[in-house]
Amino acid sequence: MKLWGGRFSKETDSLANDFQSSIHFDQRLYRQDIQGSMAHSEMLAAQGIISQADKAAIQAGLTGILADIEAGNVAFSPVNEDIHMNIEALLTARVGEAGKRLHTARSRNDQVALDFRMYVRQEIGTVIGQLLELEKVLCRQAKEHQGTVMPGYTHLQRAQPVSFAQHLLAYAAQFRRDVTRLEDCRTRLNECPLGSGALAGTTYPIDRLQTAQALGFDRPCGNSMDGVSDRDYALEFLSALSILMMHLSRFSEEVILWCSWEFKFVELDEAYSTGSSIMPQKKNPDMAELVRGKTGRVYGDLISLLTVMKGLPLAYNKDMQEDKEPVFDALDTVELCLPVFTGMIGTMKVLPDNMRKAAGRGFINATDCADYLTKKGMPFRDAYTATGRLVAACTAKGKTLEELTLEELQAVSPLFESDVYEALKLENCMALRRSFGGPASGETTRQIQEIETFVAEREA
Ligand code: ARG
Repeated sequence: MKLWGGRFSKETDSLANDFQSSIHFDQRLYRQDIQGSMAHSEMLAAQGIISQADKAAIQAGLTGILADIEAGNVAFSPVNEDIHMNIEALLTARVGEAGKRLHTARSRNDQVALDFRMYVRQEIGTVIGQLLELEKVLCRQAKEHQGTVMPGYTHLQRAQPVSFAQHLLAYAAQFRRDVTRLEDCRTRLNECPLGSGALAGTTYPIDRLQTAQALGFDRPCGNSMDGVSDRDYALEFLSALSILMMHLSRFSEEVILWCSWEFKFVELDEAYSTGSSIMPQKKNPDMAELVRGKTGRVYGDLISLLTVMKGLPLAYNKDMQEDKEPVFDALDTVELCLPVFTGMIGTMKVLPDNMRKAAGRGFINATDCADYLTKKGMPFRDAYTATGRLVAACTAKGKTLEELTLEELQAVSPLFESDVYEALKLENCMALRRSFGGPASGETTRQIQEIETFVAEREA
């Protein structure tokens, strides 16, 4: 019989019961649920709301239940609807009367709000840890390729010379923001909803500061109705994960391009590639493609919860039970994608010669050519036009800028002298881009050091 059997004279229709039961997914919260009940019973006893003997019985019962769940010896039942009522029913079956006192001054509304918050808080830590691993791999690859010249692109057209390190470090900067975004989310999340009750607090002399502190929160939520209604932390978490997946997806897209025959800038390790069932020559970047593809479902998870929440009046509504599956799905996805992606990047072979070859075609030193004339006194706009003429001449002749003779160059401007050839060398074009944040090795070294410090501070 249901908990609310006193009020009802009929059993729930079995299909309706299955429909509303959430135990098949919220059983993931068992640890948080037990932790919350431990702190709640501790506080109830300290405040004289339950006896010390009841507290001891409750806590011994919960400890046994936790051990049995971890050992796989507990079969949850959909009759008991969710993880909260399943554990309460188990407890009462094991310790009797005392178990029935646990729910004093508490509602499933503040209970689920607590469990879910603690779960999200824990998983933020997991995702951050995985991001730091990726940062370390990016730093390692970047260190080896500070002198590796490659074309930097805009519009996917060769634009200006950069180093492969600079390209990787751009992603490292994005993942670093993902870490701080998750940390921000964790800071805002860290208020304890326990004690909000169903929505209106309680008449019992509870101590919310005690439970908040015992459960690692900075403070209790300041409004009981907000405490049970707020799912912002889940939405912020999903937003942060969506942005993180967007970064992984862009990076994946580039990896896919880079290992195509058209680019051949990198070669993926066989451990992170797949073959074709029909084309014997194929080596496909399936991992990168899947990461790109799975980005869609994480976006979907965010939109799904935003949509669930948008029309809900205060305070708790059963709609909110739909908050968990999108969050679980998104974090399962991210927590799978990140280590696979990190492994793929850590083992991929970089092909500097092919990058250098690509950099040699496409006039990516044209800006440097215009800058050369500008430094010799020509206004930049004129230098830009003169260089444009040279590019047109090169295109007609099938030459690169540095292949033009001094006479050909001087036909466009008498300012050209023999030192122009040094100025047009791609290695120099890159090495001289020493402006703060630029691709010159001094700047990539600074970036690598900053990321290494960022990681070390968090791993300390
Ligand atoms: N399983 C519910 C959920 O996840 C727990 C809260 C239920 N509260 C209620 N008043 N029905 O939202």
